[in-house]
Amino acid sequence: MTQKQHNDLYAGLASVVALAARGCRVEKSGSTWNRRIMLPNTSPSPTFDRAFRADLEQLFAWRRDVRRFRCEPLEANALDELVALTAYAPSVGYSQPSRFVRVRDAHRRERIIAEYERANADAATAYAGERRATYIGLKLAGLREAPEHVAVFVDEATARGEGLGRRLMPEMLAYSTVLAVHTLWLAARARGIGVGWVSIVDPGAIVAILDVPRAWQLVAYLCVGYPQEEHLDRELARAGWEERDRSATAIIER
Ligand SMILES: Cc1cc2nc3c(=O)[nH]c(=O)nc-3n(C[C@H](O)[C@H](O)[C@H](O)COP(=O)(O)O)c2cc1C
Repeated sequence: MTQKQHNDLYAGLASVVALAARGCRVEKSGSTWNRRIMLPNTSPSPTFDRAFRADLEQLFAWRRDVRRFRCEPLEANALDELVALTAYAPSVGYSQPSRFVRVRDAHRRERIIAEYERANADAATAYAGERRATYIGLKLAGLREAPEHVAVFVDEATARGEGLGRRLMPEMLAYSTVLAVHTLWLAARARGIGVGWVSIVDPGAIVAILDVPRAWQLVAYLCVGYPQEEHLDRELARAGWEERDRSATAIIER
């Protein structure tokens, strides 16, 4: 046996031992080792190839927070499909705490728009001078134009999951709902549907206007509809409010 064959054999055996320790079954076929994850899953897993990954990156890059909507309604069932897809989102302890409210009533919508306008005018007072003028010029919601309003709540009283994973970090329940929103957001973009997240509202006011259970906390108020424009640059960067921070994706080590 040459030194290289010896090294290959040793490396192969070491990886078999490591994989077995992680619960993988390792089989030899011909001269290659195959590993199989021992999970009770019968369906074959799909292959996400390079082309798919490139498309997925495009989806991430082209998702926008949309405030400018075309007025036509969404296709029938589009919203139901988007909400159904959020079932794939992870949730702490599999608690699935997200609650979606489609706001159709014109009177309730008007009250929510009024609440946004009040909160936004109040927020402007936190800035001074040129910054305040820039803030006032920003379009921070498409509540009047969007054909759909969807309020997303986290149900703090859910019994599902029986508390798993949130004893020391109760906020994990709300984080689970954030992930459901993100799933909806990406799925919408993949269908050419725009989503805008509005957080310039008093959450208690939204709970009251929509008359939902007190244990439901507002996580996101979403405007949904077809966007007037698809664009790569972010609206707030365009408006000169905030630029991209490349260091925000840096990883540090400890
Ligand atoms: C939790 C959260 C709350 C947000 N609230 C608002 C909001 O009230 N108004 C607004 O115009 N954009 C809001 N946004 C959108 C961000 O401003 C937007 O994501 C950011 O400017 C980057 O742009 P992009 O989403 O198009 O990449 C919110 C986004 C998140 C994640």
